[in-house]
Amino acid sequence: MKKLFISAIAILGVLLSANAQDALIVNTQGREHVSLNGTWHYIVDPYDTGFYDYRFKERPEKDAGAYWNNSEPKGPTQWTEHGYKAPYNIQVPGDWNSQDHQFLYYEGTVWYQRNFDRPSAAVGKDVYLYFGAVNYEAHVYLNGKKLGMHKGGFTAFNFKIPKELLKDKDNFLVVRVDNRRHADEIPTVNTDWWNYGGITRDVELVMVPEHFIQQYNLQLDPSQDIVAAKKKGKYKLSGWAKMNAPAAGAKVSVEIPELKLKKEFAIQGDSVAFNFEANKIGLWSPESPKLYQVKFALGNESVSEKIGFRKIEVSGKKIILNGSQVFLRGISIHEEIPQQIRRAHSVKDANQLLGWAKELNCNMVRLAHYPHSENMTRVADSLGLMVWSEIPVYWTIEFGNPEVLVKAKKQLTEMVTRDRNRASIIIWSVGNETPVSPTRTTFMSTLAKMAKKLDGSRLVSAALEVGYNEGVNHVDDPLGEYTDIVALNEYLGWYRGTPADCRTAKWSVAYDKPFFISETGAEGNFGFHADKTARFSEEYQEWFYQEQIKMFENQFPDSYSGISPWILADFRSPKRNNPTYQEGWNTKGLISKDGQKKKAFYAMQAYYKKIVDKEKAANNKQ
Ligand code: GCU
Repeated sequence: MKKLFISAIAILGVLLSANAQDALIVNTQGREHVSLNGTWHYIVDPYDTGFYDYRFKERPEKDAGAYWNNSEPKGPTQWTEHGYKAPYNIQVPGDWNSQDHQFLYYEGTVWYQRNFDRPSAAVGKDVYLYFGAVNYEAHVYLNGKKLGMHKGGFTAFNFKIPKELLKDKDNFLVVRVDNRRHADEIPTVNTDWWNYGGITRDVELVMVPEHFIQQYNLQLDPSQDIVAAKKKGKYKLSGWAKMNAPAAGAKVSVEIPELKLKKEFAIQGDSVAFNFEANKIGLWSPESPKLYQVKFALGNESVSEKIGFRKIEVSGKKIILNGSQVFLRGISIHEEIPQQIRRAHSVKDANQLLGWAKELNCNMVRLAHYPHSENMTRVADSLGLMVWSEIPVYWTIEFGNPEVLVKAKKQLTEMVTRDRNRASIIIWSVGNETPVSPTRTTFMSTLAKMAKKLDGSRLVSAALEVGYNEGVNHVDDPLGEYTDIVALNEYLGWYRGTPADCRTAKWSVAYDKPFFISETGAEGNFGFHADKTARFSEEYQEWFYQEQIKMFENQFPDSYSGISPWILADFRSPKRNNPTYQEGWNTKGLISKDGQKKKAFYAMQAYYKKIVDKEKAANNKQ
């Protein structure tokens, strides 16, 4: 009982302290919006002087020394010690680390500021301030008033701007961003990636009427037998829409012009469920990534976007897409443009990273280890790449801390809420390589069950732990009870032994589920050529993959369902300090930090091509 009481208090504490943001508006690009991207001003504030006074007490709202207040001196006699002006300029979106050498390793507070005028489209509308992501903690102020705060570096959030706060001209917008790492956060203090800080994704003003469709979902009804539906050419679609406030008696229409479909549904309270049939849907798949323009309307307000319809499921030891077995020809990707050493965020960035995956003959990407930008998942929809999307419950999280579980649940909810209409996403992952213990498995299984509850139409996974004793690799991580596939990271031949050991490796797997290698890889420096036994050579990395692939094909002929090598491109990590071969880079990329393809890239590209050709030959025989 005492434990329950503590958890309840902890949860309340996190929620109350969170100045919780408003429910997320999905698909801002499909609504009336104005971008606030561009040049902002900044103050670097490692001592949080803008937040605390000299006694380190939080400054009162009207305090002239608070950095959320406009301190423009009104004449030569006025004293002020902060301000926002050139040349202290910073680009939004964008991490600060890559914008100025002083920020390369900076972990702390940076204040961002810009002015904006009320958009003409805001007349008679409600205005929300929307952030694609801020790493890690954001406190948002407008005209000296706090709108709220958000924690979590990779998920979107928004605040409704009180009407009385918005001025016609020169609205003074300030965001305090703090990217410090903390043991009780998600992720925790220890990660093998760069802690890029800042307003790393788009910022927008979103204009909506008093009553609007805040969130919605439309998909192939997960309960239907997709093979029978394909035979009949008749499909069941289901979904829902959630309004920002009760609108009983009103109706929501769903329109798919290409299918000559338009249906109306009466709202109950603040939401409405959709169920209707559609003929001749072109199902979404990597080979044919068909997307339909879908328009949701409430009165004269509408929001539309492109949605693909497909069904993903598991059957025994196989992954099934639209009724047929699918092998995931994957690659893991960090959200980073290696040539410019910066966080990826734009459509152009997404096309670069996912274009490389397509060149590799992939049909799937593992977006590690956190939700990537909405541009990545939308481009994956259009390119036909299945996606593994993951929350950064990574390594040594504080599994026994109820507040940390609340934070993980919040990030999981935010990830699913933003992207549940993305056909490309087939897997929600609740974490990566978390050390096995009863406390951890309770924590992780809670997340796995919650993911299923949030969205029963996709597979739930996590990168499980592999045990090793008496010469056998044991895949019996108790978390595997709660995931739809057995996904694991393993580095036999890099962190243990050599690639030759793959030939005699023994495995035992405790689960009759599809077996997916969510990570495997070795470092290779582009241009370093040597005997294949020389560590960090391209030849070693190539040899590693040759041996690994043989091992999985031989050991798991009936359950081996895919692989997503670690990793597409070399990436920055403060943990990689070999002065000759790493210098702050993890060089397991199949592509170098300068965008050059290594021998291992071509080895995997040929391997995937062989699989494609084999599948085509098998299909032609049918
Ligand atoms: C781990 C981890 C990755 C890390 C990789 C490596 O499996 O999941 O985040 O970068 O190993 O050691 O390179």
